Amino acid sequence: MTSYRGTPRVAIIAGLRTPFAKAGTAFKGLTALDLGRHVVAELMQRTALDGREVDQLVWGTVLPTPLAPNPAREIALLPHFPRDLPAHTVGRACASANQAITDAADQIALGHSVCAIAGGAESLSQVPILHSRGMSDLLIAVSKARTVAQRVGLIGSLRPRDFVPVTPAIAEPSTGESMGQSAEKMAKLNGITREAQDAWALRSHRNAATATSDGHLAQEIAPLPVPPDYAQVLLTDNGVRAESTLEALAALPPVFDKRYGSVTAGNASPLTDGAAAVLLMREDTARALGYAPIGYIRAYANAAIDPAEQLLQAPVLAAPKALERAGITARDLDVIEIHEAFAAQVLSNLQGFASQAWADRAGAATPLGELDPERINHTGGSIAIGHPFGATGARVVTTCCHALARADGQFGMVSVCAAGGMGHVMIIERA
Ligand SMILES: CC(C)(COP(=O)(O)OP(=O)(O)OC[C@H]1O[C@@H](n2cnc3c(N)ncnc32)[C@H](O)[C@@H]1OP(=O)(O)O)[C@@H](O)C(=O)NCCC(=O)NCCS
Repeated sequence: MTSYRGTPRVAIIAGLRTPFAKAGTAFKGLTALDLGRHVVAELMQRTALDGREVDQLVWGTVLPTPLAPNPAREIALLPHFPRDLPAHTVGRACASANQAITDAADQIALGHSVCAIAGGAESLSQVPILHSRGMSDLLIAVSKARTVAQRVGLIGSLRPRDFVPVTPAIAEPSTGESMGQSAEKMAKLNGITREAQDAWALRSHRNAATATSDGHLAQEIAPLPVPPDYAQVLLTDNGVRAESTLEALAALPPVFDKRYGSVTAGNASPLTDGAAAVLLMREDTARALGYAPIGYIRAYANAAIDPAEQLLQAPVLAAPKALERAGITARDLDVIEIHEAFAAQVLSNLQGFASQAWADRAGAATPLGELDPERINHTGGSIAIGHPFGATGARVVTTCCHALARADGQFGMVSVCAAGGMGHVMIIERA
């Protein structure tokens, strides 16, 4: 079900996230599961919902630990819920929380569910690091050895290269191209200048800094005590740079193409730890329980593009479908939340939304048109706030609902690019 017209409306009751922390900083001692449990427990407390009302929990993650391969179910075992709450984990790269939300929403629209928690988490501080193939084979052989002599013999056969661990790369398995290299390629193909990228990054930091100090972001953040001594509580995202300037951004060296490149640590999203979740209900259940929804899911669409082409451009193909399913046009959009993997990707997406050639590829009669930057990412985006892969989708949905209310608008669009050349777009309505 991707069109909700004619099915029960899916209400977004509330959304919450941890502060987002740059990897290796405040949350380096916490697992993605710790972060997820915190945000879901706090969401339950703040909404004062009886856990027995929840009938499914869906969770997104990109790099799950093999030690807890279904984190959704581990979170569902929080004391807030009965022990028989079914829960499953989904993956759609950086749109994994969006997939969790639409999985849950589909179940509600189908009549199989009335109340769900959906979200996602990621710890880039604690990515699973694997043994080499040689070491893995040897460990299995050692565990099967019958004698001490056999074991010693096997261990003696280890070579230095067997000790080299395998770290997951942020790269496409199909092309070997990293996300940053893809962003570089998109900048070159679409003529996105370094200056334009830095200006977008600066805007992201300024908007996020303002939204942090005026409290707009605080309403979506569940502060989190920092281990190991828990004496400090992280209240806000720790990557936002209120003092950022164009000059400082311009001075940063390109990272992914050191000679001719334009993508830097300043105009890319940082590696981040965090979790985010939303509470969804069937509209009549929300009314019966006395909740005032912050938004409703009107429609959504996913699309994909050859990863060897423009890896992060698929939202441009998904948006016309989502708008058509919602029965509205881009002119009806009051606010837009675009996930900022890289400034080069946001600016390429905006160019694509305005292009007839991309509209033709999407099978749409006309492009979305030039989207007014004033309606986009009012409270900053992933460049400043951070991007814990599995969590971002739930952050942008929550932010979109709050932005709609502040703008006193009716329709919002959420756009998320994802690895594998995928794109997700959701249309949210306010009332
Ligand atoms: C780009 C990337 C490699 C940079 O990693 P990093 O070098 O650890 O980044 P840092 O935060 O240490 O920043 C590097 C430098 O830039 C500076 N910097 C970063 N942002 C800045 C800003 N807005 N203004 C001024 N300086 C800035 C930092 O202060 C740091 O300077 P220092 O070396 O003097 O301390 C990493 O963030 C990355 O891989 N991002 C992309 C992640 C990705 O692919 N995500 C998937 C998207 S879907």
